[in-house]
Amino acid sequence: MTDTTTDGLRVRDLRVVFDGFAAVDGVDLTVPSGDIRFLIGPNGAGKTTLVDAVTGLVRASGSASFAGRELLGRPVHRIARMGIGRTFQTATVFEELSVLQNLDIAAGAGRGPLTMLRRRSSVPENVAEALETIGLADRRDQPAGTLAHGQKQWLEIGMLLVQDVRLLLLDEPVAGMSHEERDATGELLGVVGRGRTIVVIEHDMDFMRAYARSVTVLHGGKVLSEGTVAQVQADPRVQAVYLGEATTDDRAGDGAAAGAAGAAAKEA
Ligand SMILES: Nc1ncnc2c1ncn2[C@@H]1O[C@H](COP(=O)(O)OP(=O)(O)OP(=O)(O)O)[C@@H](O)[C@H]1O
Ligand SMILES: [Mg+2]
Repeated sequence: MTDTTTDGLRVRDLRVVFDGFAAVDGVDLTVPSGDIRFLIGPNGAGKTTLVDAVTGLVRASGSASFAGRELLGRPVHRIARMGIGRTFQTATVFEELSVLQNLDIAAGAGRGPLTMLRRRSSVPENVAEALETIGLADRRDQPAGTLAHGQKQWLEIGMLLVQDVRLLLLDEPVAGMSHEERDATGELLGVVGRGRTIVVIEHDMDFMRAYARSVTVLHGGKVLSEGTVAQVQADPRVQAVYLGEATTDDRAGDGAAAGAAGAAAKEA
């Protein structure tokens, strides 16, 4: 096998097994640099587990490389230092600290205490830039805990930007956001996506339609369908899975999202 793809994310025959159950069951995924790939699929499809495998949180077999470098088998912090960052389904910012302090800590991760001391007095350029990009410049001194839900997600993205992350994996970034926040997040993806690679796990089909450049549908740990938004929505296999989920399967309490997906599939 001589695949010459060296930039972007390249996953081959990825498999994650929990107690004999294959949560990710032989996934191939190629996300070129500059793409904004949406990863969709019913609850339990293996979306988060795939991201966990790529970022080193769970053990996996097969291959996952970024910019030509193998990720599997490396510890989490090494993968992070290779320019790969992710957000979680629930935001993980330091609530007591200010927006600026959160960014500063993220920027300083992996640097010595002297550098941290030296830069305390002024705002480093990359931090100032991230503040602008995520639209929180005028809230930089506010405790992160007082931010709106959407703003916390943006702060998390900012924390990845100051670490100079090249591959961003975002797990349901717009869940619980208002319409305005969702639109702002979509715009942010466009800006952040310049020169980076983005993978977005989402259940929000309106958001996907508006901001995805390409889509991969996972189901039962396998790739069910892949293509443009229109191609995926027109795929009868995708429609079958989402319609089935909407009517018969509500085990994770996410029936509303599945229903919306079903409606999205029906529209196509
Ligand atoms: N640590 C674990 N141990 C055992 N089983 C797990 C573990 N993590 C996930 N699973 C199982 O693996 C499957 C895939 O889960 P995963 O969280 O990746 O799904 P998902 O596509 O992200 O779903 P959702 O849309 O609900 O977030 C599910 O059946 C889940 O119960
Ligand atoms: Mg998940």
